[in-house]
Amino acid sequence: MPRHFLRDDDLSPHEQAEVLDLATQLKQQPYGDALAGPKSVAVIFEKNSTRTRFSFEVGIAQLGGHAVVVDGRSMQLGREETIGDTARVLSRYTDAVVWRTFAQERIEEFADAATVPVVNALTDEFHPCQVLSDLFTVRERKGSLSGLTLTYLGDGANNMAHSLLVGGVTAGMHVRIAAPEGFHPLPWVLDVAVKRAEETGGSATVFTDPYAAADGADVVTTDAWTSMGQEGDGKDRTTPFLPYQVNTHLLGRTGKDTIVLHDLPAHRGMEITDEVIDGPASAVWDEAENRLHVQKALLVWLLRQER
Ligand code: CP
Ligand code: NVA
Repeated sequence: MPRHFLRDDDLSPHEQAEVLDLATQLKQQPYGDALAGPKSVAVIFEKNSTRTRFSFEVGIAQLGGHAVVVDGRSMQLGREETIGDTARVLSRYTDAVVWRTFAQERIEEFADAATVPVVNALTDEFHPCQVLSDLFTVRERKGSLSGLTLTYLGDGANNMAHSLLVGGVTAGMHVRIAAPEGFHPLPWVLDVAVKRAEETGGSATVFTDPYAAADGADVVTTDAWTSMGQEGDGKDRTTPFLPYQVNTHLLGRTGKDTIVLHDLPAHRGMEITDEVIDGPASAVWDEAENRLHVQKALLVWLLRQER
C-alpha cells in the first residue's frame, strides 16, 4: 500500500521530523538523482496556483524526475470520468500524484483507488504541504518547534487554519486560532488536533479575542479572508475579520521577538499590512522558497516508504 499525504496527521510526529530533516539536506544540496529514471509525477490543479505549481515542477526536475503539470479542468475528470477511474489510470503512468482540488472527500476517494502515493496540494479543508513549509521556516529561524506558540488570525474554518492546527500540534506546538464567531475551525478537525496534541505535549485552542491570542506568540500568521471557491458564498468576508488584521499594533502585543508568516497570495491592507509583510519580522519569502525544499523531501520520503 502506498503512503499518502492527504492531511497533516498522515505523518506521525517522528515522520514529520524526518521529512523536515531531509528538507534541510535538500536545501543544502538542491540537485540530485533521487527521482532519476525519471520518476514521473502528475501535478494537477483544479484551482489557481503560483507557488505550488512552480515549486513542485522545479523541485521534481532538480531531483531528476519528470512532472506532468495539468489543469484538472481540462481533464476528462471534468467531463464525468470518475475520480476512481482517473486514479487507477494515472497510477499506471506515474510514480506519484499531486492534486489541488475542492472537497477533501475528492482526494480521499482518489487515494483509495490509487496505487501510487497521493499528495494534497490544497483542498477546501487542508493545505498540508504549505504547513510543512511553515514549520520548516519556523524551525530554521527558531531552532526548534516543540513548545513554541503559533497564533493564526482570520478565517479559522479554512484549509490553512485546519492544517496549522493539526500540523502544528504534530510538531508539539501550541496552536491558537483567533477568529470571529461563525468562522471557527470545524469541530472534528479541532478534535483531531486536540487528540494529537495529547501525544506531543502541544495544544490547540480557539480564541475570539485577537489580542489575547497574540499575547506571547512566537509566530503570528494569517491567510486570505476569502479562499478559492468561497467568492460567492454569500457571507460578509471583510467586516467580521477587520479586528484580526496582522498589523504593527497587533504585533506589538506579542511581547516577544515574533516572526510573521503568510502562505501567500497576500491581500495587502486586508489580512496583513504592507508594513508587516515587508518589515523585519516577516519570514514570508523564505516560507515561499521553502515549499520547494520541503515538497522535494516529502516526495522522496513517500517514495522510499514504498520500497
Ligand atoms: N500558498 C500557496 O499554496 O500558493 P499558490 O496558491 O500560489 O500555490
Ligand atoms: N486559503 C487559501 C489558501 C491559498 C493558498 C485558499 O484556499 O484560497
